[in-house]
Amino acid sequence: MSQVPSITLNNGLNMPQLGFGVWQVPDGEAEKAVATAIETGYRSIDTAAIYENETGTGKAIAASGVARDELFVTTKLWNSEQGHDRALRAFDDSLDKLGLDYVDLYLIHWPVPAKDAYTDTYKAFEKILADGRAKAIGVSNFHPEHLKRLLGETSVVPAVNQIELHPQLQQAESRAFHADRGIATEAWSPLGQGRGLLEVPTVVAIAQKHGRTPAQAVLRWHLQTGNIVIPKSVTPSRIKENLDVFGFELDADDLAAFAALDEGKRLGPDPAEFNVGA
Ligand SMILES: NC(=O)c1ccc[n+]([C@@H]2O[C@H](COP(=O)([O-])OP(=O)(O)OC[C@H]3O[C@@H](n4cnc5c(N)ncnc54)[C@H](OP(=O)(O)O)[C@@H]3O)[C@@H](O)[C@H]2O)c1
Repeated sequence: MSQVPSITLNNGLNMPQLGFGVWQVPDGEAEKAVATAIETGYRSIDTAAIYENETGTGKAIAASGVARDELFVTTKLWNSEQGHDRALRAFDDSLDKLGLDYVDLYLIHWPVPAKDAYTDTYKAFEKILADGRAKAIGVSNFHPEHLKRLLGETSVVPAVNQIELHPQLQQAESRAFHADRGIATEAWSPLGQGRGLLEVPTVVAIAQKHGRTPAQAVLRWHLQTGNIVIPKSVTPSRIKENLDVFGFELDADDLAAFAALDEGKRLGPDPAEFNVGA
């Protein structure tokens, strides 16, 4: 969608700054939601092997009538499939389910420190990239300490780190580290999972001031902060609302008020301790 700005990744690939996430959407429903999203104008879709909806996502992409090179498809390797050879097989499986011959972005879903396999895994990703089967490779949920090790032991700087990020968890340290190394920051749970964040009085007041919804104000904060965002919704009116964030701008007062909301509040696990699938 031409109104959605792109972020140029460190290998020159353009990624829409706003895309559509499908975590916790069952496969059949994902097909419907992704179809609605593409029809509404989204061009970037974020799925993962563990979401078990790559098949439905792929069906919606195939049926959309939108040229493949106008879409940006991300998927992620699940923790249990880390390791060089397993990762190669898991990637084949994801491509197969998606019905695609390449993805735009392939991410290691979590570092899984107890497994100690992310550098070997990433070397398989470098092969996938070299073979042209992913246009870009990156990671998700990596703390700077994990990235430092990865950068020291592998060749390709990750294009993206997708991390939990919203106004109550602003991730200043990670964002600064990424900026310094040319890694784009992508925000997961950008709306704080649609829970308390959208009722915070500061957010509600800023939304009212601009005649917008709290979700739109939060998405605007992400865009003006430089984050890539992938809000999820299965509700057609919200899918539309979340894309309609380019007709207004937060001012310096709004941004200062958002800055004050940071409380280091995680909704998901701390990646340093998340070893499911090890
Ligand atoms: N890499 C990772 O480890 C990781 C982890 C979590 C998420 N992610 C990715 O990030 C994406 C987004 O994160 P998320 O799904 O956790 O949460 P989110 O996008 O922050 O919030 C989604 C929730 O907010 C509701 N919502 C959406 N738009 C709304 C609006 N305009 N007004 C009010 N409520 C609204 C949705 O409800 P309805 O659907 O009922 O409309 C849903 O319950 C995921 O789908 C996934 O692609 C990645």
